[in-house]
Amino acid sequence: MAGSHHISRRDFVKLTTAALGSIMGAVIGLPAIGYLIDPALKASGKDAWIPLGPLEKFEAGKPALVTFTRSKINGWEKTVNSYGVFVIKKSDSEALVLSNKCTHLSCRVNWLEERQEYICPCHDAAFGLNGEVLGGPPPRPLDRYEGEQLKVEEGTLYLHFVEG
Ligand code: FES
Repeated sequence: MAGSHHISRRDFVKLTTAALGSIMGAVIGLPAIGYLIDPALKASGKDAWIPLGPLEKFEAGKPALVTFTRSKINGWEKTVNSYGVFVIKKSDSEALVLSNKCTHLSCRVNWLEERQEYICPCHDAAFGLNGEVLGGPPPRPLDRYEGEQLKVEEGTLYLHFVEG
């Protein structure tokens, strides 16, 4: 007999589905929120000391290209960026490190030993050994890492790298 508390089978299914839906929302929602917040919490993870290798292995005065990758989590997406720097050993305890990114439109420059210049293949720019502009459109020298951005620990050269 139908009373005021009678719930039809249809309503019961609706109610159960709604209840299950909110429980699932809560269960799924928690980790999802954590995941979205996580990158913000990791903001300080954008900078790191990158080991470039034992300083004694570099030849003094001759630029050597060292590449490394950094991965970034942006919301749901993980991207891996690769970077390159030239290490120019100045002494047994000192080095100059230059970005290999051209300051014109960010192409990668190459060191040409016979010309003693970095050449940008995109618009024929030339940079000197220490990154100074020798010709072409770049507005400024290659980006340099020196002073507090570098350290030598147990013979290994480290670069303090901040991802842009
Ligand atoms: S990007 Fe290097 S000269 Fe234009």
